[in-house]
Amino acid sequence: MIRFPGPQPVFKMPASKKIASALKVPWMSRFETVAQVGEIAEGQGATFTVGDQMIAVFHTQGRYYAIDDLCPHMGASLGAGHLEQGVVTCPWHAWRFKVSDGTWVDNPKLKVGCYEVRIEGHEIQVRLPEK
Ligand code: FES
Repeated sequence: MIRFPGPQPVFKMPASKKIASALKVPWMSRFETVAQVGEIAEGQGATFTVGDQMIAVFHTQGRYYAIDDLCPHMGASLGAGHLEQGVVTCPWHAWRFKVSDGTWVDNPKLKVGCYEVRIEGHEIQVRLPEK
């Protein structure tokens, strides 16, 4: 720990970060366009590279959802999994994840990353945290 002579400096959170926290807006995040509306058929998923992340986007029951593409078991692509009733089944060993929040259906204490999705015009956009 660094000790400064005299009164110790007080490090304050920037006002913009306080406002973001109060509004429950993830600090330093951005929306990225991953596809156009219509490119992911109802009941299907697809995988997109956004920066250095692989994101699986699913279209089910008229809505889009985004979770990490990498299955935490052995790394299969969840975007290539079978989607049914809001649950994607990993194509390799059948682990199942809810696309709405990334929860592992067979052990709800665990989950994969889940990201907010919005439609801007004809673009499907995913909110990712800044690195
Ligand atoms: S790699 Fe997904 S269940 Fe094994």
